[in-house]
Amino acid sequence: MTYAPAGESGRTRQVDGAHPQQGAHPEPDAPAAGAAVTTAPNEKAAAPQRIGLAVVGAGYWGPNLVRNAQQTAALRLHWLCDLDEERARRVLGRYSTVGVTTSFDEVLADERVQAVAVATPAATHYRLVRAALEAGKHVLVEKPITTTADEAAELVELAERSGLVLMCDHTFCYTPVVRRIRELVHGGELGDLQFFDSVRINLGLVQPDVDVLWDLAPHDLSILDFVLPPGVVPVGVSAQAADPIGAGRACVAYLTVRLSNGALAHCHVNWLSPTKVRTTLIGGSRRTLVWDDLNPQARLAVHDRGVDLTPPEQLTEAIRHQAQISYRVGDMVAPALSEQEALRTVMAEFADAVTTGRAPLTDGRAGLRVLRLLHAAARSLELKGATVPVDADHVTTTQERAAAR
Ligand SMILES: NC(=O)c1ccc[n+]([C@@H]2O[C@H](COP(=O)([O-])OP(=O)(O)OC[C@H]3O[C@@H](n4cnc5c(N)ncnc54)[C@H](O)[C@@H]3O)[C@@H](O)[C@H]2O)c1
Repeated sequence: MTYAPAGESGRTRQVDGAHPQQGAHPEPDAPAAGAAVTTAPNEKAAAPQRIGLAVVGAGYWGPNLVRNAQQTAALRLHWLCDLDEERARRVLGRYSTVGVTTSFDEVLADERVQAVAVATPAATHYRLVRAALEAGKHVLVEKPITTTADEAAELVELAERSGLVLMCDHTFCYTPVVRRIRELVHGGELGDLQFFDSVRINLGLVQPDVDVLWDLAPHDLSILDFVLPPGVVPVGVSAQAADPIGAGRACVAYLTVRLSNGALAHCHVNWLSPTKVRTTLIGGSRRTLVWDDLNPQARLAVHDRGVDLTPPEQLTEAIRHQAQISYRVGDMVAPALSEQEALRTVMAEFADAVTTGRAPLTDGRAGLRVLRLLHAAARSLELKGATVPVDADHVTTTQERAAAR
């Protein structure tokens, strides 16, 4: 695949879409063998400035950020930082010109680096993100944004005060299907939201450090947060969970989120299901969406089917005693969806937010809202399923936090 423009160098390059596991890495700064060098002085002056980037964390997820950053014309990867230097070198391959370091301070001290993407374990996010923001760098951080809501609120406030972008990688929100769902919900296609129901179950790896709620529900909650119509917010969470195999942590969980318009959202997450199910239904007064992520032929279906209730004032005296309920059985439409990789869109969104200074679609506040829902669910588990109120959108100030201590 050839892509242009070639960035500040103005060169034409070949990018072959190589994957980290394939060992060959597209290098944005090095012309591919045989590629024509087409630099012209006037082109060079007109080329947009690329955003200098460092990725921190070269474990399971970091290489995906590296690959997608290298394929994003607006970004220029300068560093891959990991405590395990060998691991970082393996990710980049033998011929990379991207720097490798174990020192985050070295990354922050580099003036070419304007932005940092953090893909280290959640427990390290707060310290790394805070240091990056204090050094004046924009930040893309993996989910969950931090491990406590107080820490997340502090980072959100710090980023806003410093005029820096803080984006949370809620990857699912950048899939073509979820973006389409958001368009349909926000565009009023569904009518009033009546329910949200998601099932994310399979034979999953029992994680050593987190239960199934913290492992899988962040995906469903970030999707819920992303697609909820304007003005509809979560107001309470109740959760039930069980550990039927004695793993020492919950392997099955059911989470119910009460919404401000009276609708319910429900998420079922489970590591013990022999079959894999990835289905989300979003019901509205006009249409219902069915998203089956395991069905690429009809991933998303919009049903004109549902239950209508005739208002009593529209019923004649003669039929008032009859049922007011009628069933609508209309068409089903399967919208066409593109196949763009979500992380490419994540990188493009991050780069555009940095360039324009606007808030990204999944900013730090979105990360904080999702974290608050998870904490409310965890608290509900302690309270044997009681509903825990949630003020998901409030960001406490430094003064408020100090007063609360
Ligand atoms: N968006 C998604 O769908 C998705 C998927 C998987 C993981 N993640 C997230 O990505 C993050 C990383 O997960 P993972 O599975 O790749 O973890 P991992 O354990 O496989 O890799 C983490 C890497 O970070 C390095 N590291 C740890 N502390 C460091 C520090 N202080 N400085 C530099 N490097 C450090 C480790 O050496 C390791 O190589 C987590 O927040 C996780 O939730 C997101």
